[in-house]
Amino acid sequence: MPLFLKRFLFWSLCLIFLVYTFYLYTSSTSADRGLAFLDEKAKAGKLLFQKYNCTACHQVYGLGGYMGPDLTNVISAKGKGPGYAKAFLLSGTARMPNFHLSSEEIDNIIAYLGYVDKTGVSPIIDFKLNADGTVSAGERK
Ligand code: HEC
Repeated sequence: MPLFLKRFLFWSLCLIFLVYTFYLYTSSTSADRGLAFLDEKAKAGKLLFQKYNCTACHQVYGLGGYMGPDLTNVISAKGKGPGYAKAFLLSGTARMPNFHLSSEEIDNIIAYLGYVDKTGVSPIIDFKLNADGTVSAGERK
């Protein structure tokens, strides 16, 4: 291969590397789209979620305890939803304590679970590999 071609190839690859790196590190980093869903009720619910230590038994975004189910998508899951989640908070179960929450507290926790639902998917079952090398969540079962 002639030297000028090697040089051309080398500098082209450097340029492509720089452009792609710039794109990867700057795209979708400017705005936290989740904040749009975090209203006052959801904020209050988040504090209650911490106060009552729900995460000791439950996961959100896949993190937390494993005694109870993952709550990330309980609000949108088939056959579940806000009413379903409320029922657990109203009376507890044999394994989940009844926290004797006020109806306002329950509404706030449900608002927080709604926020979590809009901002995460867990567990991620299928990954979709995008053309630019990034990965996004595929279909939820
Ligand atoms: C001591 C462990 C424990 C704590 C603490 C706990 N839970 Fe639970 N929770 C469970 C278990 C276990 C279940 C599954 C139902 C069962 O087996 O009785 C459950 C079920 C649920 C469900 C239904 C989930 C589904 O997909 O079926 C919701 C919603 C829920 N809990 C919300 C909460 C919230 C909100 C808090 C905090 C205020 C909380 N839990 C605290 C143990 C706990």
